[in-house]
Amino acid sequence: MPANIVVVGSINMDLVTTAERMPSRGETILGEGFHTYFGGKGANQAVAAARLGAQVSMVGAVGSDAFGTEYLEHLRTEGINTEHVRTRTDLSSGVAVIIVSEGDNCIIVTPGANATVSPDDIEESRSLLREADAVLVQLEIPVPAVERVLQTAEEEQTPVILNPAPMQPLSPAYWGKASYLTPNEREFEQLRETYPTIADHLENVVITKGAEGASIIRADGSEAVIPVRTADVRDTTGAGDTFNGAFATAVAEGMPLEEACRFANAASALSVEKEGAQTGMPVRSQVENRDL
Ligand code: RIB
Repeated sequence: MPANIVVVGSINMDLVTTAERMPSRGETILGEGFHTYFGGKGANQAVAAARLGAQVSMVGAVGSDAFGTEYLEHLRTEGINTEHVRTRTDLSSGVAVIIVSEGDNCIIVTPGANATVSPDDIEESRSLLREADAVLVQLEIPVPAVERVLQTAEEEQTPVILNPAPMQPLSPAYWGKASYLTPNEREFEQLRETYPTIADHLENVVITKGAEGASIIRADGSEAVIPVRTADVRDTTGAGDTFNGAFATAVAEGMPLEEACRFANAASALSVEKEGAQTGMPVRSQVENRDL
């Protein structure tokens, strides 16, 4: 039986310009190309998990515009249950303006309908959360909705993976409700500036480190580095999302933590070989055939 995962999060259309270098403040430069891609941390993670064989339900919101309609169709094509993705009248869908240059990126997200995801939406999805093997949530939707996800999952005894991206402060009591926390290095630093003892309160912190792989920080402070095989990098957008979608799939399937990190590393390394957040996300056989 496939792992049953609920992803609560953002849905964005990514408007991507490639350029030889990043512009400085106040500067205009000429771009080299423009593409529209499906994106948003929530939807990216949902697609990553679905491609790896999980049965995925998405909870989120799109606007009543062409991007929203196109995105719902896309999620269904990926085999994702969209029953709990609301269409908000008179709002735009979330949009991310992305500059890709020298294998790196800069992103500005305008939330649109993502900003309306509320604790009531989570309450309406309670039965989904109850039946799931794992819930995956990020911080690109309003904090009260994220806190309700953590609360509800705890009540329903469903493990939650909290990807604190982009970093936003939660009420301190909520961090400890996450079964797994998956910041990147910058988010982990931000988290430690606000809550210096955060790692002491969490069982499983997994820090994603790009080309260096991932680190598991255990409650006793010890660190295990899980390296990744270097990839032919074309676009790192969505690499962290692929890691999270794959990690959630592995955890929901019952893989031990280190094996789950190796699996997620491999998926993430494959994803950066193509442009766009979701284009390079692998299917299961690609990850399994890769030399971990
Ligand atoms: O993590 C990458 C994603 O961040 C992009 O797809 C963009 O939509 C932003 O949400």
